[in-house]
Amino acid sequence: MEKRSCDFIIFGIMGDLAQRKLLPSLYQLEKAGMLNYDTRIIGVARHDLDQEAFQAEMRKKLEKFVEEPLDREAEAQLLARMHYVLINLDRPEQYNRLCQVTNQQCRVMVNYFSVAPSLFGDICTGLDHSGLITPETRVVLEKPIGRNLITSRQINDLVAKFFHENQVYRIDHYLGKETVMNLLALRFANSIFTTNWDHNTIDHVQITVAEQVGIEGRWGYFDKSGQLRDMVQNHLMQILTLVAMEPPVNLHDDSLRGEKLKVLKALRPITTKNIERRVVRGQYRSGFIRGKPVPGYLEEAGGNPISSTETFVAIRLDIDNWRWAGVPFYLRTGKAMATKRSEVVINYKQLPHNIFTDSYRCLPANKLVIRLQPDEGVEIEMLNKVPGIGDGIHLQRTMLDLSFSEAFKKERVAGAYERLILDVMQGSQALFIHRDEIEHSWTWIDSIQEAWEKSSEPPKQYPAGTWGPVASVALLARDGREWEE
Ligand code: BG6
Repeated sequence: MEKRSCDFIIFGIMGDLAQRKLLPSLYQLEKAGMLNYDTRIIGVARHDLDQEAFQAEMRKKLEKFVEEPLDREAEAQLLARMHYVLINLDRPEQYNRLCQVTNQQCRVMVNYFSVAPSLFGDICTGLDHSGLITPETRVVLEKPIGRNLITSRQINDLVAKFFHENQVYRIDHYLGKETVMNLLALRFANSIFTTNWDHNTIDHVQITVAEQVGIEGRWGYFDKSGQLRDMVQNHLMQILTLVAMEPPVNLHDDSLRGEKLKVLKALRPITTKNIERRVVRGQYRSGFIRGKPVPGYLEEAGGNPISSTETFVAIRLDIDNWRWAGVPFYLRTGKAMATKRSEVVINYKQLPHNIFTDSYRCLPANKLVIRLQPDEGVEIEMLNKVPGIGDGIHLQRTMLDLSFSEAFKKERVAGAYERLILDVMQGSQALFIHRDEIEHSWTWIDSIQEAWEKSSEPPKQYPAGTWGPVASVALLARDGREWEE
């Protein structure tokens, strides 16, 4: 792979995301020898720091956020690439300072906006003012890109005044996760699955993204957002599209993104008319996590005690196309849940006739469980004969288990941001979200949000450390199904 040399500019280098995710990922890329020798990393913030103080600060953050003992050589190489530029983002005349440390004749300029979207406009204006935007310049946008269709359009329109769509890289870090990407391999490299992936063989699909952490200090951001906007609009929708899309012609940017978009266009709307039977909105109250008492959402420090923001969502959705006619998809995601677990479960149809009635009155159907995190792997639940003679044939459920950590023992699983940063540097947009995807996803999410706003019903409570409100169980039970536990 050709390593492109870049001027990789991080706006908001002192922020949480930059220090917790971007910096450790750049370190890993450095350690793996994946950065071009000429690549520079330029941190922008408004702190008054000289180069030495900046590097000392970055060293401290590497110590803190890299989850392994630091390789001193890689650390030194990385720090040697790093430069600091002080810019007050709303002062266009200060962006000239970037001209001294960048060179677009020799290196691709990547601008990573690791700041609130309200500052995107200022940065674009500043870069433009200093003549730093060429047709080659790239821009990386972090979520949230808006809080509904209208605001996401405003942000996208604003950025589009300065950058063409093929220069814009919208991040959803779930698309950088190894196991999420493995969905593509599983589906399109294994004939056993390619030929068993539609309404003929699949009964229903479950997608769970459960987090054990609560809001803990992020109240200000989270309360304005809620789990639907924070997790479903982006991460769950992306997993859904990868599970449900048609085979792309190849893995190029347009093929992949085009197929994902078709799924979003085919989502059956959820409105005031059907929301009650389709969506469960929950909020955690106090409970126990890992045996320790935890406060409820409304009792967390700095919180609003009468907030109706949801921390849990479960949805039954339908995809109105040929492949998925009659196959419901059940999505659920929540904070302060029993455990951290993300997985996709493909539930196959039951067989039409049972000849093993001695073992099962009703034969359990096969399941394909794709564990995204933690403990990444793939399991197939199937029936086998219990060894033995005499006394008929007895069956038992067994798991065929392919754990990634076992199968690929020697491979280090790269973090999501590592892959995505590398892709931006190489100019591959396949794992970034196209504007059309974001907008279709918001259109669908907005109608749920609007229906909630019209209803006076508060979110259903669930104790922290559990799998969500009882109503979530009822959502599936109504269809004669149950969540994978
Ligand atoms: C972020 C959300 O996008 O994803 C957070 O804003 C959430 O609320 C996080 O905690 C989960 O990411 P991961 O990689 O830990 O599953």
